[in-house]
Amino acid sequence: MPDWDDVFAEKGKYFTTPHPDMERLANLFREKGVRRILDLGCGTGRHLLFLLKKGFEVYGLDGSPNGLEIAKNWLTEENLSSELTCQKVEHEFPYKNDFFDAVISIQVIHHNLMKDIKFTVNEILRTLKTEGFIFLTVPLRQAFYVKKSNMKKVELRTYIPLVGQEKGLPHHFFTIAEIKKVFSEFDLLEIYIDQTNHRAILGQKI
Ligand SMILES: C[S@@+](CC[C@H](N)C(=O)[O-])C[C@H]1O[C@@H](n2cnc3c(N)ncnc32)[C@H](O)[C@@H]1O
Repeated sequence: MPDWDDVFAEKGKYFTTPHPDMERLANLFREKGVRRILDLGCGTGRHLLFLLKKGFEVYGLDGSPNGLEIAKNWLTEENLSSELTCQKVEHEFPYKNDFFDAVISIQVIHHNLMKDIKFTVNEILRTLKTEGFIFLTVPLRQAFYVKKSNMKKVELRTYIPLVGQEKGLPHHFFTIAEIKKVFSEFDLLEIYIDQTNHRAILGQKI
């Protein structure tokens, strides 16, 4: 079964420029006194570099050894450093309670079944300080590049593509009502469709 580890092995730095809203977020984080940020599912590190260069202390976690190796080399080239952890997001995070001021996760948490997504969200909650920020993006069903007929449904709103580079990987497509339910312990400041045609969620831990 191919996964992101294979994509990174074949293509290297797959995403090179930061998410279009990262500059705005960095400004918000700075204004609100954010210092320590987790990039959950950091991949090859585009947001690690961006946020480190803005002066934040940034940690990266991802399940792909190839992705993290590329991120590590990219950081070294730029004379930057970050604590990187290779593990699944559905396992307990290796951080203390109330450790981060913000957690970002760009196109990651939807790659699981709902019980694992809920576990991940609880770990975000545990490791984030009260009033800490979340910024996450997830794909939109209507904008997804694989047709429904080329996907297998495995549970409510969760599909596995049978073709393409994400073949075999679960994709959960959230409704807004579901986002509000899963993130009920957060004050959801913004839910919108971003310039990459993904659903973006900005919130704060209550
Ligand atoms: C679409 S890529 C996005 C990478 C990065 N967030 C970015 O924006 O450049 C998805 C990332 O999520 C990671 N990922 C997917 N499922 C995961 C899981 N269950 N545990 C840990 N990482 C996972 C992949 O390894 C990959 O790096």
